[in-house]
Amino acid sequence: MPSYNPTSSLLWQCPFIWPIRAGPFVCRPRVTSTSAPIASYRTLSATDMAEVDQVIHRRLASKVALVNQISHYIVSAGGKRVRPMLLLLIARALGHGGTQHHELAAVVEFIHTATLLHDDVVDESNLRRGRQTANAMFGNAASVLVGDFLYSRAFQMMVSTNRLRVMDVLAEATNVIAEGEVLQLMNMHDPDISVDDYLRVIEYKTAKLFEASARLGAVITDAAPEVEEACASYGRALGTAFQLIDDLLDYEGSTAELGKNIGDDLREGKPTLPLLVAMQRGTAAQREMIRQAVINGEVERMAQIVEIVKETGALEATREAAQAQAEQAKACLALLPESVYRQALLELSFDSIHRSS
Ligand code: IPE
Ligand code: IPE
Ligand code: MG
Ligand code: MG
Repeated sequence: MPSYNPTSSLLWQCPFIWPIRAGPFVCRPRVTSTSAPIASYRTLSATDMAEVDQVIHRRLASKVALVNQISHYIVSAGGKRVRPMLLLLIARALGHGGTQHHELAAVVEFIHTATLLHDDVVDESNLRRGRQTANAMFGNAASVLVGDFLYSRAFQMMVSTNRLRVMDVLAEATNVIAEGEVLQLMNMHDPDISVDDYLRVIEYKTAKLFEASARLGAVITDAAPEVEEACASYGRALGTAFQLIDDLLDYEGSTAELGKNIGDDLREGKPTLPLLVAMQRGTAAQREMIRQAVINGEVERMAQIVEIVKETGALEATREAAQAQAEQAKACLALLPESVYRQALLELSFDSIHRSS
């Protein structure tokens, strides 16, 4: 099985980030936008995803009106549903024929939605999925509490699968996600964090749920341990790539397409990879400007800082890091039997880095 370590792999595959340590890095084939395949995995999984949607709506029900109101508010705004898709495609690629994958796909989407409700409170964000965030609409307290409702509903649902291994994977994932958000809080306004510190945060807060989703797709097919590990590694690398692109889009994306405010990371003083690279490569004056922006959060000199981030090639470096992760993800699929579903998983890794929303 191709071994995967997000931290060390990035160090070796991103000469732009580590010009000093860039030793014998491997020249890998790059995914290029000119060869973009049609996202047929959406068509392939449409029936399964419709089932998942039904489970989601059925399981949102609560006797408490405000719980219904807020949970429907965020869920009905949509979302890409990448994590349930990942779980479904892996399960299908490994020959799953039952219905358990629908319930579990809804579980991972609930956990994801709960993290968003909490994250928007912590990040003080006011736009999500093209509409006002739940915290902006209903307040912080209600958002956090409904996030808790979604987490606990997800746990009720996973218990109903009656598989200890499923509970083990999801209990571990939710715990690590919470650690990731706290780690990120500790890194806020700190311009001196290392690339490794940053990577640890994204591995915990984002890649872990992708990993769990992919792993569960394998667990419910009773896959061999090495196949389960390959799927988990695929999910982890995909999740890392996904967050790297999210951090990139915060600088060069469009609010209209993303449905989120761009520039929030800088405004908040969140030291993501584009800023870390720009500080490494910029002049002393540029570095100082970014340092102050991270320490204080920046609104006034935002345009200048975005310019430095672009001029130093920090966005390209972030994209390269994401591409390296997507390549790692693809390599992990070698252990899966050839099928339309495996092909779909290849497309999913391509789409996760060539996206604008
Ligand atoms: C947003 O996730 C949080 C990150 C991990 C970047 P998505 O981009 O999957 O959000 P939705 O579900 O599509 O809105
Ligand atoms: C991802 O980080 C948050 C979670 C994994 C919950 P971000 O804070 O960058 O996500 P967005 O940009 O708000 O969606
Ligand atoms: Mg956020
Ligand atoms: Mg973001």
